[in-house]
Amino acid sequence: MSEIVIKEFDKLQDRYAKKQKPIKFSFRKFVRTNLNIKRSDVYTHNIHSYPGRLFPYIPIFFLSSDKFCPPEGKVLDPFSGSGTVLLESIVNPYFKRNVYGIEINPLGRLISKVKTTPIDPEELDKKIACLYRKIEKAKRNRRFKALIPKFKNIDLWFSKNAKNGLGSIKACIEQLDSDDCKDFFWVCFSKLVRSVSKADPNIPPPVILKVEKYKDSYRYEKLKKLAQRNEKPDVVKIFKEIIDENSHRIKRLWEIKELRDKTIGAKIIWDDSRNIKKGDYTFKGDLNRTESPKLNNSISMIIKRCWHR
Ligand SMILES: C[S@@+](CC[C@H](N)C(=O)[O-])C[C@H]1O[C@@H](n2cnc3c(N)ncnc32)[C@H](O)[C@@H]1O
Repeated sequence: MSEIVIKEFDKLQDRYAKKQKPIKFSFRKFVRTNLNIKRSDVYTHNIHSYPGRLFPYIPIFFLSSDKFCPPEGKVLDPFSGSGTVLLESIVNPYFKRNVYGIEINPLGRLISKVKTTPIDPEELDKKIACLYRKIEKAKRNRRFKALIPKFKNIDLWFSKNAKNGLGSIKACIEQLDSDDCKDFFWVCFSKLVRSVSKADPNIPPPVILKVEKYKDSYRYEKLKKLAQRNEKPDVVKIFKEIIDENSHRIKRLWEIKELRDKTIGAKIIWDDSRNIKKGDYTFKGDLNRTESPKLNNSISMIIKRCWHR
């Protein structure tokens, strides 16, 4: 496979040398046709939304060859966002490689970590059952203290039902021991917060959903139903649906032997690419900053998105 990529890359270089202008190339078409890799809702890509995610076919192209990075080499994404490059590095069918990610946004670090961390399905199912028991117990306990944050305009974004439901689930997750499953629940919880809010799901920065705006669109009926649902959402039911979908996604990682054995993995190592150091990811998107050796020539390939103007 490596040769096909190298041949295509050389052709692209020649075309560029002749034209001296940006050239059109469909990574998607090339990867799907020649490398037989197809991406939609595979592995953990759709575990949580994130703005500006890299199109997976671009890293797949470069990762599927040993021209740009030796098979044993380490990859770095210095702006790793929610971890598309990290995930593609560890699941590549031709060359699986260890990869580092640096990301300034703690939510991006949390999603990247969960997106790339395999969890034993049996353990996950046990922890899910344990969390559900806590949630059911909390529902029956009138004195249970939901954790509802105080911030300006909370009532603009969430109905009373949503606030109480989210607060109870949050308190139940907080009771669990810190481990990979708990981080998985935080990702599901974050997805839940957005989906039971009054925010427009089509616009990444939070903007109140105004259904009338979509009157002439095919999305209208769906969005109308969503707005009605979120006046009084069944938060626990929606949370369970998210857990169910995401647990299927995360279980796919367990099928990869190198990830189960931890011979291959992704690590979030730092928060700011302007001053790269090395620390350890702890939990909930946080970093332990006590260790900070430099990377010292240990990286073979950097994949980073550039904007062409
Ligand atoms: C477009 S996203 C990257 C997408 C990612 N490469 C992927 O694989 O999907 C750009 C990310 O860069 C992060 N960022 C911006 N400035 C940064 C900095 N100085 N250090 C680390 N991350 C930064 C942003 O928070 C954002 O998540």
